[in-house]
Amino acid sequence: MCGIVGAVSTRNVVPMLIEGLSRLEYRGYDSSGIALVLNQANSPEFERVRVAGRVADLNAKTTNSTGQIGIAHTRWATHGAPNEANAHPHLGGNEIMVVHNGIIENFADIKNELIALGYTFTSETDTEVIAHLIAYQQTQTPTFLAAVQASIRQLHGAFAIGVLSLQNPTQVICARQGSPLVIGLGFQEFFFASDIAALLPLTQKMIYLEEGDIALLDYQKIQIWDNTGLAVIRQPRMLDVCADSAELGPYRHYMQKEIFEQPTAIANTINQALSQGFNPDQFGEQAQQILQQATAIRIIACGTSYHAGLVARYWIEAYTGMPVSVDIASEYRYSNGLEQRGTLIIAISQSGETADLLAAIRNAKERGEVKILALCNVAHSTLTREADLSILTQAGIEIGVASTKAFTTQLAALYVFAGCLAQARSSLSDEKLAELANWLPRLPAMISAALSQESEIEGWAQALSHHAHTLYLGRNTLFPIALEGALKLKEIAYIHAEGYAAGELKHGPLALVDENMPVIVCAANDALFEKLMSNLREVEARGGQIYLIAEPGCEAALPYVKSAIFLPLNTGPLAPIVFTIPLQLLAYHTAHRKGTDVDKPRNLAKSVTVE
Ligand code: AGP
Repeated sequence: MCGIVGAVSTRNVVPMLIEGLSRLEYRGYDSSGIALVLNQANSPEFERVRVAGRVADLNAKTTNSTGQIGIAHTRWATHGAPNEANAHPHLGGNEIMVVHNGIIENFADIKNELIALGYTFTSETDTEVIAHLIAYQQTQTPTFLAAVQASIRQLHGAFAIGVLSLQNPTQVICARQGSPLVIGLGFQEFFFASDIAALLPLTQKMIYLEEGDIALLDYQKIQIWDNTGLAVIRQPRMLDVCADSAELGPYRHYMQKEIFEQPTAIANTINQALSQGFNPDQFGEQAQQILQQATAIRIIACGTSYHAGLVARYWIEAYTGMPVSVDIASEYRYSNGLEQRGTLIIAISQSGETADLLAAIRNAKERGEVKILALCNVAHSTLTREADLSILTQAGIEIGVASTKAFTTQLAALYVFAGCLAQARSSLSDEKLAELANWLPRLPAMISAALSQESEIEGWAQALSHHAHTLYLGRNTLFPIALEGALKLKEIAYIHAEGYAAGELKHGPLALVDENMPVIVCAANDALFEKLMSNLREVEARGGQIYLIAEPGCEAALPYVKSAIFLPLNTGPLAPIVFTIPLQLLAYHTAHRKGTDVDKPRNLAKSVTVE
């Protein structure tokens, strides 16, 4: 979604702002812009440059620009087309510039009031309302800060903003209410951004603003006020993330890089479990008690993270016998019903900033006495800060919009969680727990072995790239993996794909099967293989083209398939993690063959911070 960067420095901030924006490109956007305050000492004026296109175009148009205070933005269109007039920053009353992430729900009402006051609008955006409103409030209040505070009180919705004022040309204000914002501290220079990735080359010392905070930055200092208007001190943190983790290195695309980072990302995520086994204490002091006292489990998430939740249901139910429900956050937040007392809500999110998920957990807290466990890849995200308990995956920054390593690390963490839950509740024998734990040290090598089959998958991708539709089938824990494989193909290769539980074939999708329908089937060598064989026969009898990914021991399927790839090893309960790898590679190579924008697929954003 949209990205914000701002800076005040004794140096020229233009290269910092452009570099920051380019590091936010992965989030998805369709236009970009920058505003600087020039002539601060004499008669201050704005320089504004906007383009309906890439940050590279903005860079080309700002090569001669210099300034020491500025704001910049990448816009993902919500109100109005992605053109230059709608690109940020927006001008208010000729003396205010604003960049904005999020949505102002009551913008139409405020706009009418401002038009009645004589303000003229030049865009279709909700953001321009903020700019004119602050300009108006500057005529009613004593200070720049008071004008921003008064304006924010009138706004409904979730947002983060950056504001420049010609009346206060050495200051910049930023504020958050529902959308993330972080401040970076340099030497005699300060920055802010909607994502730490934008600031990593400049500093690793960051302040995470709290909900409702407003910050004023100038050349000397930062001042912060909370949502009641009280001056507060927020402690800076030194981050353990280096700028290089966002570099592409030898890879063609971030998605490809991130697929190949999975053995390491997973090893890092299960590191504690490798030394301690299924010890609930690894999740924090309260974990043992919370896991023992939970009466039910509800998992809430969106997209790929939702698929991780679907897999976790199989593990948790099998190892603990607890009832588990899995909900899509955007559905849960508007559904009715109370939560059973003692329900443990597991909120899964790579970013920890997904608007629907945050709304869902806040809603869950109102429905009953629940505890929230966040499973997230970003320390200090809004989600982890609002949860009672957090499990952090160690995937590192994920740039590709299509989630890969974030998903498999979520799965690895959920497997460990299911084991710890069983341990805490004594629902499995020590022998059984040890057997489950023994699979973990083998996981990174199993992932590497699956990655080594890339060239075979490339052959499949060539065939798939000529089709408009594809079916994915799996059973048990491989059913959610069929959903995830289909989502990956849709997202980046723009091929219509459906994931199904193989047993559902006869209940509808079999009608689609003919000689033009590729059917990707995931087959584990388990108790359900015989059932899956019946499904393969059904597809083969209708001319369907079966592409089989299977564990050793599933050779009986060979007479029915067009092509088969056998994983080198049996993967036991970790099958959903390992089977994900060929499906990611298949989507990646199919998209690459089709020439789509793999890392920034059309219409999508990395972090969905608006509803
Ligand atoms: C994954 O490939 C997608 N881009 C998307 O479904 C994503 O998983 C979803 O938006 C949830 O994001 P989150 O994990 O950051 O909450």
